[in-house]
Amino acid sequence: MVLEDDAKYVWHPFTQIQTEPSPLLISSAKNATLFTADGKSYLDCNSSWWVNVHGHGNEYIAKAIQTQFAAIDHVIFAGATHEKAIELSKRIVEKLNCDLQKVFFSDNGSTAVEVAIKMCMQFWHNQGIKKSRVLALEGAYHGDTFGAMSVGERDYFNAPFEPFFFNVDFLEFPTEANEKQLLAQAKILFESGEFISLIVEPLIQGSAGMRFYSISFLEELVILAKANNVLVIFDEIMTAFGRTGTLFAFEHTTVRPDIICLSKGLTGGVLPLGLTVATNAIFDAFLSDERAKAFLHGHSFTGNPLACAAACASLDLFEQAATWENIKAIETRNLNFLQKLEKHPVIDNARVYGTILALDLKTDGPTGYFSKIRDKAYTFFLENGLLLRPLGNVLFINPPYCLTEREQLTIFEVIEKFLVQNGFEDLKIR
Ligand SMILES: Cc1ncc(COP(=O)(O)O)c(C=O)c1O
Repeated sequence: MVLEDDAKYVWHPFTQIQTEPSPLLISSAKNATLFTADGKSYLDCNSSWWVNVHGHGNEYIAKAIQTQFAAIDHVIFAGATHEKAIELSKRIVEKLNCDLQKVFFSDNGSTAVEVAIKMCMQFWHNQGIKKSRVLALEGAYHGDTFGAMSVGERDYFNAPFEPFFFNVDFLEFPTEANEKQLLAQAKILFESGEFISLIVEPLIQGSAGMRFYSISFLEELVILAKANNVLVIFDEIMTAFGRTGTLFAFEHTTVRPDIICLSKGLTGGVLPLGLTVATNAIFDAFLSDERAKAFLHGHSFTGNPLACAAACASLDLFEQAATWENIKAIETRNLNFLQKLEKHPVIDNARVYGTILALDLKTDGPTGYFSKIRDKAYTFFLENGLLLRPLGNVLFINPPYCLTEREQLTIFEVIEKFLVQNGFEDLKIR
């Protein structure tokens, strides 16, 4: 009955409703487990669209939201402010620990990126400098709003909208084989003086299939950009908050961006919130006697106090040693499993970055989002108690950090079972 109403009234995202099965009716969740109304349970292997970092139903975060609700639930954020937004901004700036000093609030990852792009455009505009080109990486995913789509991979996801995008230059995805040539290409582009910004997902492209690229490439690209007055945006919406083993992925590198975009795990993954943090140099370009030079952008729920309280509580949890011990333990177990997978004949490119474990299934068919293996694997995992959404032929986990050893080993066992039972019978992992 409830699902009938779902079918009747709800339009789900990223879903071909005509052909895809009914959604799971989730009635409750605790830690890394989701429970359905009909008594089944699933391990949340991808942290509910990569957001949930401390597990579901975290009581410390719940209390922070309740306390905040009693004080102030929501308030306009222009001409008014509140303590939790101030606390969050200060703590994020301290944790970023670089030139990123001014925090702008929005509602989700896409809007955090949209804000970053608009900031870069207006930064040059306010100074009367005419530049209009943006550089991004092929395969990028930065969200579903127009600016974010424009700097993302041009493919079936956004084909209907492509005529309406602004022009963007793309570099091929960096690999050992093409890095040098790409850097030479970037140098020529940047030296044209026409580029306002470079935007990248640092070190890992998430939606493209958890693709990793080298620290040295990122460092050299950023150095080149900065040497040529190109503003650098790091989209850390997927990579921040412990995902790669550090609070921010950029900590693996020696470079820092001019703007960073944060969302997903920011609130512990329990409430929507986006942050775009910029340097003082960018902020200062918006200061003027003219109102039109201000950043005239905002959303009704900008700086929502409940979301800010959840984010502050999540930062408290990141200040506890236990959180980092859990992250390390997940990584160690990932690395142990990786050893089993690495030379496996049906797997290409098994890889681990912190809490992320990913592997590409070898397939003769298409490997992208519409890969048939994807549907087969997704269904198999559901039948075996895992909510694990592959990206095409890429199987990956990025679980909540409260995941227990037993739960992680269960995930590995089910992955092994999938390889054995679904066309890979002769290739049992040993
Ligand atoms: C790197 C990256 N940027 C931006 C986004 C968009 O975030 P949201 O879905 O919150 O709009 C995502 C979402 O997956 C992402 O992975």
